[in-house]
Amino acid sequence: MSRRKLNIGLFGFGVVGQGLYQLIQGVNYQDAVIRKVAVKDRSKPRSIPPTLITFDANDILEDESVDLIVEAIDDADEAYRLVSTAMQKGKPVVTANKKMLALYFKELLDLQLTTGTMFLYEAAVCGAIPVVRTLDNSFAFETIQSIRGIFNGTSNYILSKIFKERLDYALALKQAQDLGFAESDPTSDVGGFDAKYKAIILAKHAFGIVYHPKEVLNIGIDYLVGDDIAFARSKGWKIKLVPTLLNTQGKVSAFVLPTFVKPDDKLFDIEEELNAVILDTAYSGTHSFTGKGAGAFPTAFSVLNDIRSVLSSQPYLYQKDFIPFEKADLTEVKIEIYLRFKNPQVKEALAFESIREGFIAEGDEVIIGVTTLKKLLDCRAIIYADKSAVIGTGQVDVIKKKLQVSKLISTEV
Ligand SMILES: NC(=O)c1ccc[n+]([C@@H]2O[C@H](COP(=O)([O-])OP(=O)(O)OC[C@H]3O[C@@H](n4cnc5c(N)ncnc54)[C@H](OP(=O)(O)O)[C@@H]3O)[C@@H](O)[C@H]2O)c1
Repeated sequence: MSRRKLNIGLFGFGVVGQGLYQLIQGVNYQDAVIRKVAVKDRSKPRSIPPTLITFDANDILEDESVDLIVEAIDDADEAYRLVSTAMQKGKPVVTANKKMLALYFKELLDLQLTTGTMFLYEAAVCGAIPVVRTLDNSFAFETIQSIRGIFNGTSNYILSKIFKERLDYALALKQAQDLGFAESDPTSDVGGFDAKYKAIILAKHAFGIVYHPKEVLNIGIDYLVGDDIAFARSKGWKIKLVPTLLNTQGKVSAFVLPTFVKPDDKLFDIEEELNAVILDTAYSGTHSFTGKGAGAFPTAFSVLNDIRSVLSSQPYLYQKDFIPFEKADLTEVKIEIYLRFKNPQVKEALAFESIREGFIAEGDEVIIGVTTLKKLLDCRAIIYADKSAVIGTGQVDVIKKKLQVSKLISTEV
């Protein structure tokens, strides 16, 4: 006996929306059909029958025959409006929109609880790598000690070109834009925002913690210069844009920083637009996942898996909600950084607790020393105004009461 196909209402027909449309046909997926596609721009030519297209969101939201919403638009606020309306109407939602999730995570999770509507978002974190479901399901009984990775293919592509082919930043960025990896405004990628949104989503599944983007430091690769690269190269290292979630005896800290990476680090050989997620755990050791973090089919692949999970009634479990992790006090998170700066106020504002190296690079002063995550978060605006470079050395200590110190990640400079 054949069962009725699930009717999908799709918001967005860009990279992800078109990828999903083609993937469903390509794999001959029989359980669901795209019934309506909502887009915005009336002047764009479309590759699908005009009868499928609508410019009115209500044609999907109010259509009772639509069983499930796939949200793949590039506007986080409008996406939140669409997704929350759909959930209130009891329509399950699958989304790829990490910015919407990071900005409205608490509201969306609350809505999921109050409406009992399924809400899945695997595609929002590292494209094809099934890390959300894996953390949620397979690591439910494991204690995650840290999560690090390469969550943004664009910045990794740029850094790969800088380190492997000695391109300068501007040329590497242009190549990434020409290849379609980077947007015309690359701020979200190179400034570490995109990686931060993904880290925020993983923090919920690894530790049951919901961060607002304002609480999480992100410094990007946008102001690295030749001498910063030369310093790393002289030591045999690379620089990667590394989002980090650290668990120190139940206190969690989260940040995204350019970071010196040594050859024995699993992230060292993650090149070009590849993504990686490294989980360090208490009982089962280190787990590494690598794969395509973006692009039409890799992302659509995750969306399709979520659609199948809706069909088979498999919501996320959020097992870590029942374990008492809490956000670390950022004044207690001591972090060693390489800082290149022009304005002495940057150094003053960061109030270094110790400095163990200082030199001049490209006419700027460089110091390597220890500050706190709180100082870095508070000083982000002045760091950016100065076009300073901040690079983590990998040394992060979290001091708990009575100066009990745990060294979680260690990379000697
Ligand atoms: N691209 C990737 O590899 C990737 C990977 C993971 C996650 N994501 C996330 O997936 C989402 C979509 O990304 P994308 O790359 O597919 O974006 P995109 O190529 O820029 O396409 C965006 C689509 O959204 C539509 N849209 C915008 N506002 C709309 C509105 N108010 N109502 C209906 N449609 C609207 C646009 O309509 P028009 O066609 O009319 O302009 C377009 O079809 C984003 O949240 C992104 O962060 C993307």
